Amino acid sequence: MNTEPVSNSSDYRQSMGQLLMLYTQVDRLIMEICAERLTQAPDEDAELSLAKQVGDESRHVSIQRQWMRDFGTQPMPVITPEQEQMIRAHFRTLPWIDFLADLYICVEALGSEAVERIVPLADPGTRESLRVPLTDEIDHVAFGVARLKQELGKISETERQAFIERLPVRIEALTDTFHGFGFSVRDLFEAVGADYVRLCRMLEERQKELIAELAAAPAAGHQPVREMAGVPA
Ligand SMILES: [Fe+2]
Ligand SMILES: [Fe+2]
Repeated sequence: MNTEPVSNSSDYRQSMGQLLMLYTQVDRLIMEICAERLTQAPDEDAELSLAKQVGDESRHVSIQRQWMRDFGTQPMPVITPEQEQMIRAHFRTLPWIDFLADLYICVEALGSEAVERIVPLADPGTRESLRVPLTDEIDHVAFGVARLKQELGKISETERQAFIERLPVRIEALTDTFHGFGFSVRDLFEAVGADYVRLCRMLEERQKELIAELAAAPAAGHQPVREMAGVPA
């Protein structure tokens, strides 16, 4: 019986190296996308959160780069410069509400869920390198979900329902683009010991959970009206 841990195999090291590179590239892109959005933030709260996130993602990129050097693999970029350009262009054109859905529900929430699932399978060094980034991602997702709820509270009930119903299609479109980038996400995950089918099922569950949370947020007209507080009935 082979008792050698998966994390000692060369296949594991190569694939984990590539996954680390992918995570670093995505974090770098998020940093750039949030920095660009900063100038069009709808209010100061959003401005401050985006600015904090730019700093967080920059820290994640340097933690991951340092770890990739120590890990010893020299992975090539997984996403090409043209694909990176396409991703930046996509986010640049999005209205605020769509920006929140794509960046925070799809990339941040579902992306970090996938990374979380890898943590228990990873070698101790990789696990440690993901500790700070994954803790910060919780903050980013919380901001995105809260602001998305706020935007959904401003539109009519019909628009709100339509937006929520369209969310799975938005997520699928982004996922399809990602899967069309020319590398096999499935192979990378399986090489580090993940059960890919199970992982996809978990991501679907998380997606449902997030959508249910957004759907449960109070609709327009049901928001507590602050101006009326204290006004006798
Ligand atoms: Fe990050
Ligand atoms: Fe993040």
